[in-house]
Amino acid sequence: MDFLRLDIQDNGVGLLTIERPEALNALNEALLLELEECLTEISKESRIKVLVITGSGRAFVAGADIAVMHPMGEEQAKVFSLLGQRTFNQLSNLPQPTIAAINGYALGGGLELALACDLRVASEKAKLGQPEIGLGIIPGFGATQRLPRLIGTARAKELLFTGATISAQEALALGLVNRLFAPDELLEGALALAADIAQKSAVILRYLKTAVDQGVATSLAEGLAIEAQYFGVCFTTYDQKEGMGAFLEKRSPRFRDC
Ligand code: HXC
Repeated sequence: MDFLRLDIQDNGVGLLTIERPEALNALNEALLLELEECLTEISKESRIKVLVITGSGRAFVAGADIAVMHPMGEEQAKVFSLLGQRTFNQLSNLPQPTIAAINGYALGGGLELALACDLRVASEKAKLGQPEIGLGIIPGFGATQRLPRLIGTARAKELLFTGATISAQEALALGLVNRLFAPDELLEGALALAADIAQKSAVILRYLKTAVDQGVATSLAEGLAIEAQYFGVCFTTYDQKEGMGAFLEKRSPRFRDC
C-alpha cells in the first residue's frame, strides 16, 4: 500500500495509519481508492474486532487535496465528491466499531473522515474544522449531513458558515469528539479504548452498531422495532448464553471470536 499502513494486534485491534505526511495526509483519488480497497479487506478480517484510524506526522488529515481540486469542472468535482462519499460510507458501514484518533489537523475532508467513524478521540493539541467556505466550496465528503446529525443543526451551521478552526477542547464541548488525551498519550489512549471494546462479543457489537445506526436513520417507533428485532437475534447466539451464564456462575465471560 502506498498511502496506508495496517497493523493488526493480537488483542483484536487494527490500527490504520494514513501516510502522506508531506501533504499533511491530504486525500487524493489514489489515496481514497486505496482506502476503499483496504476497508473491503478489513470488513472481512476476523482478526480485527475494533479499528483505530490515525494520521502520520503532525496532521490527522488536512482535507481533500486542494491542488487536485483546483482545476476541476462541475462533473469532475461531483465524481470526486461521490468517490469520497462512497469510501466514507464504506467506513461508516464497517461491521466493526471504529475510532478516529485525531492526532493533529482534521480539516475539511479530514474531519469528514473522522465523522464517518463511530467514535472520535483527539490530542489536546488537535485542530478541527470545515474550512471549505473559505475555498469557495461546500463540503463534499459528508459533513453537510453527518455534522448536523452529530452536533445539531445550528452548531453545525456555525462551523460550516464560518469555516472556523476550533480547538480540541471546543470540539469536546460540542460533542464532536468523545475524549481528549495529551498528545504523546493519544495513540495509547485510543488503542486502550479499542482494546476494551474488543474484549466484548464481536457478534453482539455488530448487532449493537447496526441497531444504533439503522435506528437513528429512522423514526423512534421504527428504531424501537429494530432494537427489539436485534435484541431477539442476540438470543440465537452462543455469546448470549455465555454472557448470561457467566454472570450466573459468577465468572468472566469467554466470548467466541467471529
Ligand atoms: C493539498 C495540502 C493540504 C490540502 C496541506 N497541504 N493541506 N495540500 N491539500 N488540503 C500541504 C501544503 O500545501 C504544504 O505543501 C504541506 O501540506 C504542509 O502544509 P503547510 O500549509 O505548509 O503547513 P502549515 O503552515 O503548518 O499549515 C497547516 C494547515 C494548512 C493550517 C493545515 O496546510 C491548511 O490550511 N491546509 C488546508 C486545509 C483545508 O483548507 N482543508 C480543506 C480542503 S477542502 P508544500 O508542498 O508547500 O510543503 C476539502 C473538501 C472535501 O477537504 C470534499 C471534497 C469533495
